[in-house]
Amino acid sequence: MNVATRINSALSVRDQFPAIVGWHYLDSAATAQKPQSVIDAITKAYAHDYATVHRGVYERSATMTASYEASRAAASNLIGGQPNELIFTRGATEAINLVARTLPKEGRNRVLLSQLEHHSNIVPWQLAGFEVDAVPLTADGQINLDAAEAMLNDQHRLVSFAHVSNVLGSVLDAKRAAEIAHSKGALLLLDGCQAVPRMPVDVAATGADFYAYSAHKLYGPTGIGCLWGRNLDQLPPWQGGGSMIDRVTFEKTTYLEAPMRFEAGTPHIVGAVGLHAAVNWVEKLSLDAIHAHECALVAECRAALQSLGGVTLYGPEDSAGIVSFNVDGVHAHDTATILDDAGVAVRAGHHCAQPLMDWLGVPATARASFGAHSDSSDIDALVSGIEQVKRIFG
Ligand SMILES: Cc1ncc(COP(=O)(O)O)c(C=O)c1O
Repeated sequence: MNVATRINSALSVRDQFPAIVGWHYLDSAATAQKPQSVIDAITKAYAHDYATVHRGVYERSATMTASYEASRAAASNLIGGQPNELIFTRGATEAINLVARTLPKEGRNRVLLSQLEHHSNIVPWQLAGFEVDAVPLTADGQINLDAAEAMLNDQHRLVSFAHVSNVLGSVLDAKRAAEIAHSKGALLLLDGCQAVPRMPVDVAATGADFYAYSAHKLYGPTGIGCLWGRNLDQLPPWQGGGSMIDRVTFEKTTYLEAPMRFEAGTPHIVGAVGLHAAVNWVEKLSLDAIHAHECALVAECRAALQSLGGVTLYGPEDSAGIVSFNVDGVHAHDTATILDDAGVAVRAGHHCAQPLMDWLGVPATARASFGAHSDSSDIDALVSGIEQVKRIFG
């Protein structure tokens, strides 16, 4: 039994995922499968506990409001924040859009991104009228922080980087990124979509100003995500409606304090309950253990693919839970289709990171991404699927 298998059986998690029985699911970076405890929490919330939040005077509504707010506290605490520092959004995409649309520019019209960003961390800035500068990568696919330091100037309002790349798995030195941003009076936003499910995160220790993540990548439901902010009061409200106001008249409207004033309308109540169950689930396993488990799988996977020959690997050796590759001479879509026939689900394409594909010089990659439930059997199936790809394509 190798290291990865040993860790996995210690966690005994695979059998908690009813939707992956008999399937090698290697697409957790796109969206994570759900453990039974999350499914049960969502079912119970709809079947027994359901009511609106923040409005009803009846007891059920008060209980549901308490559950909703307990989820906020748990989702913030997971990344080292305080309850009132976290806004529920539809996902990381909406969280980044919220900052892009509301952050006062204060005479600084530029934002510093990197070559490896997801489109969700590029397009919102363009739409909000920022000029975008992109930091190059090191040869092994990490954000080049020396280059970032040299590029940053007092025109930059914000630095916004992926904490972990969704294509390469590269892990950012977030503390240094914060120091660089702050040294020029810029703020730091971290796109934590791929980091939060894979490693312990502490916003206080890193010094980030904003942190975005999505519940569905953390074994929770779709349709809900989080924006953590050190100082949410610097942002004006962005969407108007119920639940975000203090007093409305036709002449003048006043707003609630953060975070409530950013949550207009009836929120994703049961989504919050499901997110809380997901937070409890990863905390019970411990993100340290999940991180160690996925790192062991990455090492095993990279070694196995390398030994096959004819496979190009992208990204650093010590990537977090994600391995991107191409079988030489074969389009990633063909690779993924043959793997699908072999019961292995990988993502193929540009992964919503076209500037990164330009940097890699390929139209697409295949990507195997691990979750807490992954084990060596997934890698074995991947390897024999790739052998089949090589047989078919000669
Ligand atoms: C690094 C990164 N950022 C942002 C996103 C967008 O997340 P969502 O679609 O959940 O809003 C993703 C999703 O793939 C991602 O991997």
